[in-house]
Amino acid sequence: MIINATSFVHTLLRAHLQHGNTAIDATIGNGWDTVVLAELVGNSGTVYGFDIQQVALDVTNSRLRTANYTAKLFIENHANMANVLPQECKGNVHAITFNLGYLPGGDKCLTTTTETTIEALVCGLEMLAHRGIITVVCYQHPEGIDELQAIRRWLQQQPQDIVVCTETHFLNQRGTPPIVVTISKL
Ligand SMILES: C[S@@+](CC[C@H](N)C(=O)[O-])C[C@H]1O[C@@H](n2cnc3c(N)ncnc32)[C@H](O)[C@@H]1O
Repeated sequence: MIINATSFVHTLLRAHLQHGNTAIDATIGNGWDTVVLAELVGNSGTVYGFDIQQVALDVTNSRLRTANYTAKLFIENHANMANVLPQECKGNVHAITFNLGYLPGGDKCLTTTTETTIEALVCGLEMLAHRGIITVVCYQHPEGIDELQAIRRWLQQQPQDIVVCTETHFLNQRGTPPIVVTISKL
C-alpha cells in the first residue's frame, strides 16, 4: 500500500526487481531500503550500499543480520561508486535508490549535496541496465529544494529516447512531504 514516499518507492522496487538481480542503495542511512532491496534480489542477487557515515553501515549491517540478508556496504561517497563497484556492474544494475538529506536522528551537517548527488546520478545512469530504475526521495527543506531543482534541471536535459523521468507529489499530506523522482532507462 502507498502511504508515503518510502512505501511508494518500495512498491516500485517490488515491481522491478527479481531474485538474482543487482541493486544499489546509494544512501543506506538506517538501512530500511537496503533490507527491502536485499529481500527482493534474494540470495542469488547482490546489493551494494553506500554511506559516508560508519554509524549507517553499523545499523544497516545489524538490520541485515537480523533479517538474515546480506549486502556489500561501503563507507564511501556515492559520487565515487564507479571506483568501488566491480567492473561487471556497468550496465547491469536493475535498481538504484537514493533517499537524500541527512541520517534521521544524526548529524544534519552530514547531508547529501547538490554537486555530489548529480555526480552520483550520472554514475548511476551508467551502471543502470536497460529497463532499470533509479528512485530518488527528495526533501523540501531549503537545501533540499536547491538539490531537487538541480536534479530537475539535469533530468530535463536527458534524451527521452534513453530515459523517462517522472516526479510524484503527495497532494493531501500535511506539511511539505517528500517528492519522489524516478528515472527509467529504456
Ligand atoms: C535520509 S538518509 C537515508 C535513509 C535510508 N535510505 C534508510 O532507509 O534509512 C540519507 C543518508 O545519506 C547519507 N549521505 C549523505 N551524503 C552522502 C554521500 N555523498 N554519499 C553517500 N551517502 C551519503 C547520509 O549519511 C544519510 O545516512
